[in-house]
Amino acid sequence: MTFARIAGTGSYLPPRVVTNDELAARLDTSDAWIRGRTGIRQRHIAEDSQASSDLALEASRRALEAAGLGAADLDLIVVATSTPDFVFPSTACLLQAKLGVRDCPAFDLQAVCSGFVYALATADSFIRNRIAKNALVVGAEVYSRILDWNDRATCVLFGDGAGAVVLAAAEHPGVHASVLHADGSQAGILSVPGNVCGGRIVGSPFLQMQGGQVFKLAVKVLDEVARETLAAAAMRVEDVDWLIPHQANLRILEATAKRLGVARERLVVTVDHHANTSAASVPLALDEFVRAGRIKPGHRVMLQGVGGGFTWGASLVTM
Ligand code: UT7
Repeated sequence: MTFARIAGTGSYLPPRVVTNDELAARLDTSDAWIRGRTGIRQRHIAEDSQASSDLALEASRRALEAAGLGAADLDLIVVATSTPDFVFPSTACLLQAKLGVRDCPAFDLQAVCSGFVYALATADSFIRNRIAKNALVVGAEVYSRILDWNDRATCVLFGDGAGAVVLAAAEHPGVHASVLHADGSQAGILSVPGNVCGGRIVGSPFLQMQGGQVFKLAVKVLDEVARETLAAAAMRVEDVDWLIPHQANLRILEATAKRLGVARERLVVTVDHHANTSAASVPLALDEFVRAGRIKPGHRVMLQGVGGGFTWGASLVTM
């Protein structure tokens, strides 16, 4: 049997850091409110000249280097993003060109903050079915472009960044199991409900969220999907070395770990310094802990996404 394993990780954060105090200087908010309600103390914001494909390129180069592979070795590129460079072509195609290669299939996947887990499950399936051997799976976002910077209820929550993994064919897993879900009836609680039509933006081009509803649903489904994924992999919560939920809010992360019975030391938290980077949050957190030597080869990691759609999912992997 063929399985897929993570052969290398990489990430990139644009250099500009925006602190809570900087936001409080021009908005009716405070560092104390933002930290107390979300755990966030800063976020990285891309330069105007940087698009998702640029952030993705840096993260991808680092993941390829860590995997000991070149771009020419790739036979699949999947980019999870809700902030693509253009309506089309896909950010994945733009990334492929920036990596200096051609031919391999490349496509974007839109599952908002669950995007990376959806993309990982998709690439895993390609590899298990021997359609690909070396897949680049990326989450890349410039949420700063879709935020209303006068709306204190949303703009303080998000940041920009990219994370990537190279998923390679292997004799042993790797990815043990993935479980994905969606509930389109909840589309309205988190959305950017605008579109381009006749040369104009019709509807709102800004992120809108019913924060309380998203919060409650997120805690519920992150708990459920972790248990489903453990069952699919025939493992127990004690078998998990690290829990990496989508980095939306420290209170969501801690509530999820508590419900699952995962000790605080095994919960990966980067939301404090990255804020919510949507599809990029999970691979960014993974790469940070891998490079810090905390997540080591052989460790079992539960990766979890949840967000707009409404979508959610999890993958259990051995590094
Ligand atoms: O990636 C997945 C998507 N996002 C999420 O997972 C986010 C999920 N939701 C959350 O994280 C939380 O619901 C929030 C952090 C967004 C909000 O926290 P909350 O504890 O649910 O607060 P709230 O929305 O109930 O607002 C409480 C108060 C309100 O004032 P009133 O009506 O009680 O007078 C808000 O107007 O806090 C006010 N408020 C703020 N105050 C200072 C909202 N935003 C701010 C702000 N600064 N930035």
